[in-house]
Amino acid sequence: MPTNARLARLANNPFARLAELLAAVPPHVNEPPITMSVGEPQHETPTLAARIVAENAHLWNRYPPMAGTPEYRAACAAWLARRYRLPEGMISGERHVLALNGTKEGLFQVGLLAVPETKAGKIPVVLLPNPHYLVYEGGGAMAGAELVPLDATAETGFLPDLGAITPAQLERCALFYLCTPSNPQGAIADLGYLAKAIKLARDWDFVLAVDECYCEIYDRAPPPGALEASLALGGDLRNLLVFHSLSKRSNAAGMRCGFVAGDPDLVARFQHLRGYGGAQVPLPLQHAAAALWQDEAHVEPNRALYRRKFDIAEARLQGRFGFYRPPGGFFLWLDVGDGEAAAKRLWREAAIRTLPGAYLAHGRGRDNPGHRYIRVALVHDDATVAAGMDRLRQVL
Ligand SMILES: Cc1ncc(COP(=O)(O)O)c(C=O)c1O
Repeated sequence: MPTNARLARLANNPFARLAELLAAVPPHVNEPPITMSVGEPQHETPTLAARIVAENAHLWNRYPPMAGTPEYRAACAAWLARRYRLPEGMISGERHVLALNGTKEGLFQVGLLAVPETKAGKIPVVLLPNPHYLVYEGGGAMAGAELVPLDATAETGFLPDLGAITPAQLERCALFYLCTPSNPQGAIADLGYLAKAIKLARDWDFVLAVDECYCEIYDRAPPPGALEASLALGGDLRNLLVFHSLSKRSNAAGMRCGFVAGDPDLVARFQHLRGYGGAQVPLPLQHAAAALWQDEAHVEPNRALYRRKFDIAEARLQGRFGFYRPPGGFFLWLDVGDGEAAAKRLWREAAIRTLPGAYLAHGRGRDNPGHRYIRVALVHDDATVAAGMDRLRQVL
């Protein structure tokens, strides 16, 4: 049966590859397994979410508006203005914001939105950090673009080196995915970096999609956002889209609530596209999500819990495996020499699941910028994190 060959060419999901890798080396220890491979928040969702969903139970029978309710979009716009100190009117819910079923859906669909048939007479290019969140690959490749992974290594501050992108790549570029704070390394792009990326997008006429879904999980200073950078450039939103989510901010990954904001022309076309393939957010969930965007009381305590996990990891690892305290996000990115070999040993000898960095990046062997690394999600309670770090130190 003929199906889309682009799909067949996409690499296997990192978690499917991990399951295969570890199936061959079952744990030889009696300790309970600890899953540190998956970045799923484990803290409690604020109770107000369940209460508001229940209060709006009479709305389950209604089809929700595709773009999101005016109240939901206004709550997102107001949060953006507070979070990034944007002037009144710069972002309006109606013109600049669309509800998304989690950022994942929007990050995939932005490929279909941004990639034309050809650019500069050739196959369009999608730029993405290497390593990266899997969905950027799907978004670019399924839209028919050529993927150009930009290595984000210790030498480049774990962000793509914008100065190293060639004019030939920029000319064909239709879409550039950036992630800040970055998954997996936790690097934060500063305002200068973001402004440079926005200028590139305008000079070479491509869409800059900035995934800011970890922006509320940070160690010291709040990560700046691309909308802030666009304000510093004069407030114009051309070519820019930012993606946000309640999954990490409010421990509400299961609610599937996020939004995209930015260039009003792109937002209008995105709304058109989502009319065909987007998934609406159910109305009771939009009500609860609007309340979560309006509530700040739960956000700092959540962040403090993550800081404590990093304190534990820092104290237990004591600089081993190139430990650094990431400025954002909730992952350790540990240099263990050979990530795949380390992940196997950790599972077999310590019953800890971690993700080989190579599974998040392009490139063979040592040319893969994730080759030397494992990604370790610090999402469990303190005692579990401590046990995980102790076992990791003993085995490696
Ligand atoms: C970098 C990055 N972007 C986007 C997402 C998608 O999150 P959600 O769809 O829950 O907003 C994730 C999920 O883990 C992620 O790590």
